[in-house]
Amino acid sequence: MKKIGFGASSAKIIWFGEHSVVYGQPAIALPLPAVKVSAQIKIRQQGTSQIFSRYYDGDWDQVPVEMAGIKQLTESLRHQLGLTDYQFQLVIDSDIPAERGMGSSAATAVAITRAFFDLSEKHLTRTDLLKAANIAEQVTHGNPSGLDAATASAKWPIWYVKNKENTKLPINLSTATMVIADSGVKGKTSVAVNQVKEQLIIDPKTQDIIDKMGAVVNQVPSALIADDVPLLGSLMNQNHNLLRQLNVSTPQLDLMQIQALDSGAFGAKLTGSGLGGCLIAIAPNLIIAQKVANDLFQVGASATWIQPLNQFEKQD
Ligand code: MEV
Repeated sequence: MKKIGFGASSAKIIWFGEHSVVYGQPAIALPLPAVKVSAQIKIRQQGTSQIFSRYYDGDWDQVPVEMAGIKQLTESLRHQLGLTDYQFQLVIDSDIPAERGMGSSAATAVAITRAFFDLSEKHLTRTDLLKAANIAEQVTHGNPSGLDAATASAKWPIWYVKNKENTKLPINLSTATMVIADSGVKGKTSVAVNQVKEQLIIDPKTQDIIDKMGAVVNQVPSALIADDVPLLGSLMNQNHNLLRQLNVSTPQLDLMQIQALDSGAFGAKLTGSGLGGCLIAIAPNLIIAQKVANDLFQVGASATWIQPLNQFEKQD
């Protein structure tokens, strides 16, 4: 066993297909290696176990309830890896904003799991990693789809169909660059999901919107292979307009979407549940992405991140 173990992971976004994915249509999620979380686990020779993180610094026994998922995961890893006799210090360092649809909790769980396996010098399979991360996600989210953990731990986009598919999506983009901008307002996942459910009951046109979203998502894989950024941008705009028709956008997200296009992005859309959270925009290159990011601050974005799209593993 080592004295210190390290693990890292990254944020994720839903690129296409939020909400319609709940009704069986495909979605595409993307890890964001530019937005990271790391975990360091160190055996303590004396004293009690401790945790240091942006939520809480102090004794392991006193961790707040918001960190119950992390606590359960850590205890389970200590048992699994035969480390229950040791006291430890866990340090979590995260750039991922919480409650913005960027998969902060799943990415943290992935980083912690990797750190524990690194400490114990044991091989960690992808299946075991996702199983472990899911322990924390069950506690934090109740009924996770597993998409967050699968994406946070991946080096490629994920094609996802609820309860069916979760596969690597080939990508061949050269200079296209993604901008992620925080609207400054927390996303409201359960409110938004319930609102769409209601709308499906009372408005017959809603199913049509969901079907159109599925048709948009189905055009994405070939555009990713063909490096067709104008088409990807257009599909993002179409997806945003359909999300507006589902009433999950906000005036702030719409304002940011229009600004991103004015600043040179080829397309932009809200990402995640909506009713707050983040906007994503695709720019043809890094220079334009930087302009888009700067301009979005002028219309109220509270933070932005830039993710080049040529950094993903291509085919196996
Ligand atoms: C929320 O991040 C994504 C939604 O599609 C809900 C879900 O997939 O569970 C809105």
